[in-house]
Amino acid sequence: MSGNSTGIMFRVTTFGSSHGKALGAVIDGCPAGLDLTRMDIQGELDRRRPGASSITTSRGETDQVEILSGIFQGKTDGTPIAAVIYNEDADSSAYEAIKHRPRPGHGDYTWTARYGVYDYRGGGRGSGRATVGHVIGGAVAKKLLKLLDIKVISHVTQIGDIKASPVSHSRIEEYSTKNPVRCADPQAAPKMEEAILEAKAKGDSLGGIVEIIAFQVPAGLGEPVFGKLDAELAQALMGIGSVKGVEVGLGFELARSTASATNDEYYLEKGQIKTTTNTSGGIVGGISNGMPLVMRMAVKPTPSISLPQKTVDLEKKEEVEIKILGRHDPCICPRITTVAESVVAMVLADHLLRTGLINPCHV
Ligand SMILES: Cc1cc2nc3c(=O)[nH]c(=O)nc-3n(C[C@H](O)[C@H](O)[C@H](O)COP(=O)(O)O)c2cc1C
Repeated sequence: MSGNSTGIMFRVTTFGSSHGKALGAVIDGCPAGLDLTRMDIQGELDRRRPGASSITTSRGETDQVEILSGIFQGKTDGTPIAAVIYNEDADSSAYEAIKHRPRPGHGDYTWTARYGVYDYRGGGRGSGRATVGHVIGGAVAKKLLKLLDIKVISHVTQIGDIKASPVSHSRIEEYSTKNPVRCADPQAAPKMEEAILEAKAKGDSLGGIVEIIAFQVPAGLGEPVFGKLDAELAQALMGIGSVKGVEVGLGFELARSTASATNDEYYLEKGQIKTTTNTSGGIVGGISNGMPLVMRMAVKPTPSISLPQKTVDLEKKEEVEIKILGRHDPCICPRITTVAESVVAMVLADHLLRTGLINPCHV
């Protein structure tokens, strides 16, 4: 199986599955000399952990990360950083009844078609839980970005048809961490929470939109034509389970606009080139222009729902109905925010090393 590694110079490989022994990541290419502690990674993992609120699952993982290599006396030593989390609270019994019955909306059938074998327990390698590897990689990447004061944040802007009103960039982080939905609009957040709980009570789930913003990204990142920054960010975000669409800047809205209304015009601010608007989301011609990077991703409703669904028994070759048991978030958006930030941070760290803005040997 390939496809488990990403990045050219900051290369992250993730491993493990939802109900296997462990999950984790190996990060190769992180320069030596970077201050890195276990808590830098643990802090990020705690942000995506289940059991954190009424709208996330009750799976009681404590997710304590163990660093196996790559750090010497509190600093990276230039060798691969391997970090692992052992699965402690995995209850696989609920999946026995559906082991030959692919769940709609999950990769059960397609992974079986591709590999001939599939770990049916909790989605196996395709599970949302496997994104702890993304978060480990992202935590190290964020430390590298900090060297240049680059910060990546995210927030939920829509759940179902409830939309958040725009909030100034400087307030997003503060406001979105005050509610379990991770929405920066204090009026919309409780409505979103209510809608999620309502869907959950009906045995159903909801999707939504998550916005990711990266501040202080210097102009000049991106390698056209196949390594365009927007293309690599979109690929990284689309690689997260349940993400079905990505837009940069005004995205699909640009299709309904004119250039005179949406071209980002340049001006000088204290000798620095800026744009008066940011419809391009900070990337033009595949290269960052120094404005904040703005991306949004469409997250589908959590596929595991408790309502009955039709499928096919692959062994008996007959149509059947299934009911999914086990623990599932009624909406993936709040938890996916940390994962989205992580992959954006990984792509940016990779490009900073590729352009030489961060020394690849030693920081
Ligand atoms: C952080 C995260 C958490 C997730 N949690 C769940 C969950 O609790 N239940 C579920 O059915 N799907 C969950 N998913 C989504 C599935 O993993 C995903 O929809 C499935 O693998 C099919 O992939 P696709 O939606 O990209 O086609 C989660 C995804 C992520 C990224």
